[in-house]
Amino acid sequence: MCGIVGYIGRQNAFPILTKGLHRLEYRGYDSAGVALLNQENELNIYKVKGRVSDLELFCEGKDISGHAGIAHTRWATHGEPNQANAHPHYSQSESLALIHNGIIENYTVLKTGLMQKGYTFQSETDTEVLVQLIEYIKTGNNVDIITAVRLALKQVVGAYAIAIIERQNPEFIIVARKSSPLVVGIGKDEFFIASDASPIIDHTDKVIYLEDEEIAVIHRDKAPQVLSLANVEKTPQTIQLEVSLSELEKGEYPHFMLKEIFEQPQTLRDCMRGRVNIDCNNLTLSGIIDHKERFLKARRIIILACGTSWHAGLIGEYLLEEFCRIPVEVEYSSEFRYRNPVIYPDDIVIAISQSGETADTLAAIELAKKAGAFVYGICNVVGSSIPRNTNSGSYTHVGVEIGVASTKAFTAQVLVLIMMAINIGKEKNTIPNEQYEHILSELNQIPEKIEAILEQNIIIEDLSKTFTYAHNFIYMGRGYSYPIAMEGALKLKEISYIHAEGYPAAEMKHGPIALIDQDMPVIVIATHDGTYEKMISNIQEIKARNGRILAIVNQSDNKVKNIADYVIEIPNTAECLSPLLSIIPLQLLSYHIAVKKGRDVDMPRNLAKSVTVE
Ligand code: AGP
Ligand code: GLU
Repeated sequence: MCGIVGYIGRQNAFPILTKGLHRLEYRGYDSAGVALLNQENELNIYKVKGRVSDLELFCEGKDISGHAGIAHTRWATHGEPNQANAHPHYSQSESLALIHNGIIENYTVLKTGLMQKGYTFQSETDTEVLVQLIEYIKTGNNVDIITAVRLALKQVVGAYAIAIIERQNPEFIIVARKSSPLVVGIGKDEFFIASDASPIIDHTDKVIYLEDEEIAVIHRDKAPQVLSLANVEKTPQTIQLEVSLSELEKGEYPHFMLKEIFEQPQTLRDCMRGRVNIDCNNLTLSGIIDHKERFLKARRIIILACGTSWHAGLIGEYLLEEFCRIPVEVEYSSEFRYRNPVIYPDDIVIAISQSGETADTLAAIELAKKAGAFVYGICNVVGSSIPRNTNSGSYTHVGVEIGVASTKAFTAQVLVLIMMAINIGKEKNTIPNEQYEHILSELNQIPEKIEAILEQNIIIEDLSKTFTYAHNFIYMGRGYSYPIAMEGALKLKEISYIHAEGYPAAEMKHGPIALIDQDMPVIVIATHDGTYEKMISNIQEIKARNGRILAIVNQSDNKVKNIADYVIEIPNTAECLSPLLSIIPLQLLSYHIAVKKGRDVDMPRNLAKSVTVE
């Protein structure tokens, strides 16, 4: 979380930095700040509680000159979001300014030591400890700033992406990373620093991704110098970016989330491109085929993920067990990494992540790799840490997802899992040919069917008015629709702040049914599948207790329609593909309820898009 931007070159840094911060605001948005080194070698810091636009207002009329600077948009971990805790932080002598994304876990010990040496602190953050420590090492050991940064980072336990600027050295900015992302953009006699490539693509398409425990000195006039914490020179690899600017704009849509919901027919086409060949009745994922033997021999699959990606993982469990006959466990990365799990060398671990930077998932991958498991990544952000740290994988190819609530990344994760399951199933002969062909032909029609659902947007918007009163929601589903119930509930809570629970429908009578009364909206996903009749009984149980039912049903349905208070129809498809359709109306419903409640849909409170702290 937290967005980091830096610039050194010949242009005015301020507009480049603030534009970059706007691009990164999805990563954190409780406070923002900037440090600028002007021509007189003054190091000015401006920071505010609030959004980047508040920072821009605050800076009006102030000295915002300077051709080098660093800037930050914060998602607080240590210390409440206020001006003092906002980044950048000065060192004691105010000759250094530092921004940070991550957590310094041993900050209390370091802080106590520094306080005993006479250092005072202006903030409650862990970050400020680092800038003071660097200054202490620099002055105490009489070393240059690069050495001081290196020595200080060797004392740090935790995660960091940092950028430091020094008053006495206007010719360079120092950056470093461990477990938090950092990208350096290479322009002509100018360099850009950012947490991800989005602030950089306006200026250049050439970037370097820093590796863990690397420090880079970004000079104005020469190529970045990269070294390890052990002071070994490294040769960074320059990568060409492939992101287009239009992906970063809202266009005609009022919110990124709505744009991203509407992009899904196209993003799923993009995700299938080159993988599904309907004419030849064939589907291949190169990441699977290149390691076919591993998959054929796999004793077990463990899926690791967080949040929405974890919900995609639950659908993966149904798919892989049904079509590949391999036992699957789906784990929250954060639980898995801390519970001494049993991992066999012939296990396959699938790590799912939109950002490719989720700290818990990265750490869980490391654990699995150490135990000898083969790790397959399903990621969206090309070149992010998870694809770089896994043995094989598939990108979801949905383009940049900016709305904090994940939508198009989720459907593509599910699609990749579908493709994986039927690809492995075909290789293992555990999926009948007829079924394989049927799924392929249905898969081909999914984008059009989503388009048909999106045409009901106005109807769903209308329906959303009925539900804005509610303080609680229950979502129910069975089989493939159970993870969709959980994902629908998560979408609602993250952007509307309404409490919502997703439940397997048959579990209701084991407790949660006590919550049902005439004020409780119950969203049921009741598509035609193996448990349709059972689902009808579950709906009757809710109805008998006066619950208000909104059902997602197939167009051909003729039973649930007679019981439910409201219905949204979706096209029929193969059972295993139904999550790709049933989630769409739930995304739209959450979106419209949140808009009606006046919520900040793209940047909901307390959240950040990329969770790079554990
Ligand atoms: C989704 O709407 C979330 N905001 C969140 O749950 C997210 O899915 C989770 O943090 C995992 O992120 P990742 O996919 O980037 O790893
Ligand atoms: N730990 C730092 C703070 O609280 C940075 C937080 C983050 O990167 O999310 O200010």
